[in-house]
Amino acid sequence: MNMDLYQKIEQQLKLEKGIPFTPDWSAAPDFIELIVEHALTTKPQVIVECSSGLTTLVLARCCQMSGRGHVYSLENGPEYAAKTRSYFERYGVDDYVTVIDAPLESVTINGTDYQWYRTTELFEQLPADSIEMLVIDGPPGFIQKNSRYPALPQLEEKIADHCTVFLDDAAREDEREIVQLWQNELRGIESRYIDAERGCAVLTMTRALV
Ligand SMILES: C[S@@+](CC[C@H](N)C(=O)[O-])C[C@H]1O[C@@H](n2cnc3c(N)ncnc32)[C@H](O)[C@@H]1O
Repeated sequence: MNMDLYQKIEQQLKLEKGIPFTPDWSAAPDFIELIVEHALTTKPQVIVECSSGLTTLVLARCCQMSGRGHVYSLENGPEYAAKTRSYFERYGVDDYVTVIDAPLESVTINGTDYQWYRTTELFEQLPADSIEMLVIDGPPGFIQKNSRYPALPQLEEKIADHCTVFLDDAAREDEREIVQLWQNELRGIESRYIDAERGCAVLTMTRALV
């Protein structure tokens, strides 16, 4: 874990109360650096995140610094949702972020059953084709094979044609298979792999061009 990089991000985002990371569970600093750079450069209006924590705080801070955008974070664990929400007032970013309680529910996709976030509340809040940035760092891999695969099929109707997707832990075999499945099954996706500490897949939607 590159602590210097966490410190650099802390300074860049002026997080004067420090970076509240949890070893083993928070996204690695080089993944955070990638999503921060993208958020600050492209200033997405709607950012959706699968799993909450440090990533939620830094993305909310990016929206605040850009003066636009909102982060919607799906979280299945009520205790982790509460912990993430506790950051917002402390860091002054409440207006830029919503953590949505989203228990894992059964969903069947192409004949395979998965446990994935309930989307009812998120879908009530978002118009169609609105997600411009999607960050996927959950559900945890131990829950099932290809745990994060449902993200694109489940969120597809809310994803903007030019959306950029960041998939954490992309060095793992499951995540490599997930990217392959998405590319085979969904139209207009380009992907590149970044050799970050845990691997990062960056997918660019090119549906408007298809
Ligand atoms: C990889 S963690 C999410 C990390 C988040 N994106 C961040 O950067 O902090 C994925 C999920 O694991 C769960 N989780 C978080 N901290 C945990 C802990 N210390 N022990 C067990 N599960 C945890 C939460 O439900 C979280 O949504």
